Amino acid sequence: MANGKTRIAIVVGGKGRGSNMRALAERIAETQDLEVVAVVAPKADIPAVETASSLNLPVRVVPVGDDYHSRLAEALADADWICLAGYLRLFPTSVLEAHAGRVLNIHPALLPKFGGKGMFGMHVHEAVVAAGERESGCTVHFVTEHYDEGAVIAQARCEVLPSDSAEKVAAKVLKLEHETYFAALRRLTQG
Ligand code: GRF
Repeated sequence: MANGKTRIAIVVGGKGRGSNMRALAERIAETQDLEVVAVVAPKADIPAVETASSLNLPVRVVPVGDDYHSRLAEALADADWICLAGYLRLFPTSVLEAHAGRVLNIHPALLPKFGGKGMFGMHVHEAVVAAGERESGCTVHFVTEHYDEGAVIAQARCEVLPSDSAEKVAAKVLKLEHETYFAALRRLTQG
């Protein structure tokens, strides 16, 4: 909190579409007390990095490779809160320990359903449709050393119609994600 603001880092993954990063950054920019201090990405040539640059956000490219954990820790050292947005790997335990209880993730389903290893992107929505679910949604949760297992902070729900395709469900859920992630972060940072 060097300038009195709460410092938020957003970590995106290699697929890096970046729509949650954008939604978070835009809402954070409207506040008086939060700021994005880093958008951390594993590669430079992904849409999330282009978007972050166009929003004048500080980008840190941390390629996966030798010393990845310590380089990631260094890029995130100043952050008060860390928001994973499309990060598909297990988050390093050493970084989790350094930011205990302050690393969040968003998942495109109503955890504990449709979570765990391999449950990401369209796989989630295809599984929801295949299971005949009548609702889906998104979950903001604390990150642990296991996939999608930390305590739930917030969930938002939408209806799944029998005629909905996985793509249709994905679009409904993504819209919810863009509201829910910031709302959860706002609540946590206000104590
Ligand atoms: C989102 O569906 C999020 O729930 C999941 O990864 C996806 C990232 O999408 N963790 P985007 O890059 O934010 O558009």
